[in-house]
Amino acid sequence: MTRPSTYHVKSFGCQMNVYDGERMAELLAAEGMTPAVGADSADLVVLNTCHIREKAAEKVYSDIGRLRREDGSTPMIAVAGCVAQAEGAEIQRRAKEVDIVVGPQAYHRLPELVAKGRAVDTDMPAASKFDALPARRLSGPTAFLTVQEGCDKFCTYCVVPYTRGAEVSRPWNAVLDEAKALVDAGAQEITLLGQNVNAWEGEDEKGRVQGLDGLIRALDRLPGLARIRYTTSHPNDMRQGLIDAHGEIAKLMPFLHLPVQAGSDRILKAMNRSHSVASYLEVIGRVRAARSDIAISGDYIVGFPGESEADFEATLEIVRATGHAQAFSFKYSPRPGTPAATMEDQVAEAVKDERLQRLQALLGEQQFAFNRATIGRTAEVLIERKGKKPGQTIGKSPWLQSVIVEDGPAIGTLATVEIVAAGPNSLTGLLREIRAAA
Ligand code: 5AD
Ligand code: SF4
Repeated sequence: MTRPSTYHVKSFGCQMNVYDGERMAELLAAEGMTPAVGADSADLVVLNTCHIREKAAEKVYSDIGRLRREDGSTPMIAVAGCVAQAEGAEIQRRAKEVDIVVGPQAYHRLPELVAKGRAVDTDMPAASKFDALPARRLSGPTAFLTVQEGCDKFCTYCVVPYTRGAEVSRPWNAVLDEAKALVDAGAQEITLLGQNVNAWEGEDEKGRVQGLDGLIRALDRLPGLARIRYTTSHPNDMRQGLIDAHGEIAKLMPFLHLPVQAGSDRILKAMNRSHSVASYLEVIGRVRAARSDIAISGDYIVGFPGESEADFEATLEIVRATGHAQAFSFKYSPRPGTPAATMEDQVAEAVKDERLQRLQALLGEQQFAFNRATIGRTAEVLIERKGKKPGQTIGKSPWLQSVIVEDGPAIGTLATVEIVAAGPNSLTGLLREIRAAA
């Protein structure tokens, strides 16, 4: 195969995969390759995959099939991400057209693998991939920045400790340098990413040990940066310094994604979550005490092995007690190699379906109620993209709601908007004022 000159990267799954996908694109561009219009015309297609649930993991094989072109040819195909890490060379046995398999800790070697033409690299090298990546590019006012990767918590349902490896924090300087580069390139909002982002730890330039709140305070001092977010957090790593930061730092947006997964202590124990319902609600209470308007998001799993009707009702109860602005909910999906996959009392699919529907109805009501409560208020919206109708632009409120602004200002504007209507998934607003750059 001749060396590819155009590429297309398609990412699935979490925001960290989106970040990795952007970094792979930057890497290929630095090699002189150019982005193709889409997968159909690219010489090299990178499928950056997710392994978290079975459906996500199986999707890669149908996607590979769809890359075949009318004349029977295929582009060079690289499978990256968490399925690559979990299945390795097995992918090439199942799908012969796959040329390259590259894991999430090895993708800085993508150009070498492309030069080889056919290769599998799922190493988790000691040296950080980040040191080998080229400078950031940016295509909008918001950016992701991975500060922490991996997980040591070993929830019994979860593949992440296996696909992403142990918890590693990127050094203070590396994070701040990347943040500065992003701001120089036009980023007004940075979302710090990590599988357990609030477990981030490092030493600042004076050798003092800092947690995520220290990093956020350093970002707060960056001229030009208007907004800071972070995701995903674990309840046990929600230290008081971070909670206090929510009350003290105006640039830190009033939004917290704090998965609890279930509302029954018995199930939380079987999940190896190492927190209880009471300790989660206590954290939520302290967060709200620091920042009363904070929007709480979360993740829930229904149908974990052994979950009874009473356990499930306890999940509905914790949702009611928390009051979510939004939340994600999933049917439990047994993942090969994880302890829960071989537990007895797996819950029937029909029961999972029914519970998911009930949970999603409740979460949907809460989200709609949260959205309606913002009607009549003014909110600062960072405009991110064009809307469907001419003149409309769309951005995010501080609480991460999508806001459609009629006669909206240009992408990248921080606009004060009066919220005049609310739907289940978005708000509509009228422009009141434009804020000058931070
Ligand atoms: N089945 C269903 N949902 C899962 N999650 C993680 N592993 C599984 C699984 N095996 C969910 C959790 C996690 C989110 C990213 O995905 O809720 O917080
Ligand atoms: Fe999916 Fe987890 Fe990998 Fe993200 S880290 S892509 S959620 S398996």
